[in-house]
Amino acid sequence: MSKLRIGVAGAGAMGSGIAQTAAMAGHTVLLFDESKQAVEKAFSSITSSLQKLEEKGKIKNAGEVIKKITAIEALKDFAPCGFFIEAIIENLEAKRKLFSAVEAVISDECILASNTSSLSIASLAASCKNPERFIGVHFFNPPVLMKLVEIIPGIRTSQEVTVQTLRLIQSWSKTTVIAEDTPGFIVNRIARPYYGEAIRIFEEGIASPATIDHAMKTLGGFKMGPFELMDFIGNDINFNVTETVWKQMFYDARYRPSQTQKRLYEAGMFGRKSGRGYYEYKDGQAVIPPPAEDKKLLEEIFMRILFMLINEAADALHFQIASAQDIETAMTLGVNYPKGLLHWADETGIEKVYRTLLQLNDTYREERYRPSVLLKRKAESDEKFLG
Ligand SMILES: NC(=O)c1ccc[n+]([C@@H]2O[C@H](COP(=O)([O-])OP(=O)(O)OC[C@H]3O[C@@H](n4cnc5c(N)ncnc54)[C@H](O)[C@@H]3O)[C@@H](O)[C@H]2O)c1
Repeated sequence: MSKLRIGVAGAGAMGSGIAQTAAMAGHTVLLFDESKQAVEKAFSSITSSLQKLEEKGKIKNAGEVIKKITAIEALKDFAPCGFFIEAIIENLEAKRKLFSAVEAVISDECILASNTSSLSIASLAASCKNPERFIGVHFFNPPVLMKLVEIIPGIRTSQEVTVQTLRLIQSWSKTTVIAEDTPGFIVNRIARPYYGEAIRIFEEGIASPATIDHAMKTLGGFKMGPFELMDFIGNDINFNVTETVWKQMFYDARYRPSQTQKRLYEAGMFGRKSGRGYYEYKDGQAVIPPPAEDKKLLEEIFMRILFMLINEAADALHFQIASAQDIETAMTLGVNYPKGLLHWADETGIEKVYRTLLQLNDTYREERYRPSVLLKRKAESDEKFLG
């Protein structure tokens, strides 16, 4: 069977990485961007990435791979594609306009996909005459290196399109998980407390960013602490994701953004890329003040953030956002958590997690700390999440 021709719109960070990934899997790729400079930049970054992979012995044919990608100048040139994915600006109207234009030129068999992080698949699919062929395919940054891809069938996506998309993306050496079309899908929903609860602890004056980061790294084995990670992602991007998830959750207090994050964003203190965020950066390195070495405090911080994450994972399972296995896979591959959160809950004792959340709930009397019903049921029945 000959390989599908892949169409990619948007040649920025994500689109160029997706085009490279598809080409490395042997597809011919048609790449489009409204900006000529973006296309030029994409070709130079793909070329240098392929060269590096060749130098490391990970691929043997950098020269062949780059030849598989062709820049196109008009949307009508997407006509021969069997699979089309967009990674243009995160704007509903721009994406809807693009999909209706592309649908008009492609064949009936072509699958249409979006790499959106925050828009609903239903709202995008509604711009197409045939929403059954529409699906969410959410890569992580950088797409070439990150193994995880969230596959999000919309309310009208056909089963056949879901199966074909899973097969295709798996053939690109990616690990797929299936997520319901809900805000943040799996990773961007469940990860919220890693940032939100850390900021809350800091805002209450319980500990400094350096101490909180230290607790999560030393006791939890997380590669980066929440503040280092927020500065790395960018406080502008992170604030935007937090605010979007909160609004789309109909203002559920559990996801409410913090004033601290908003002020950093307003002040242009985006983190590493702007030279200042929670930390100051000198020659690209964070200047991190010494953390407090108070064992009891570190333990308290670690448990509070971890248990809020577990609560979020339990709630995602309760509301059938994804299967238990896919939740574990998503958090370990999408944000490199050292362990799956459900496994962590089983290991720690669900009863302990539930009791701690009840105490927080009792202290603060805020919706934010309400334990998931599933956590309550598991704690009361002494069952585990995983077997
Ligand atoms: N950056 C991430 O970490 C990340 C991760 C997962 C998903 N996403 C999603 O991927 C998409 C792209 O993100 P990015 O970080 O690559 O953005 P980016 O700004 O790096 O690239 C976007 C590109 O789209 C082009 N563009 C804008 N409007 C266009 C149009 N109408 N037609 C054709 N090209 C157009 C721009 O010229 C630009 O080159 C967004 O939907 C974003 O939410 C981003």
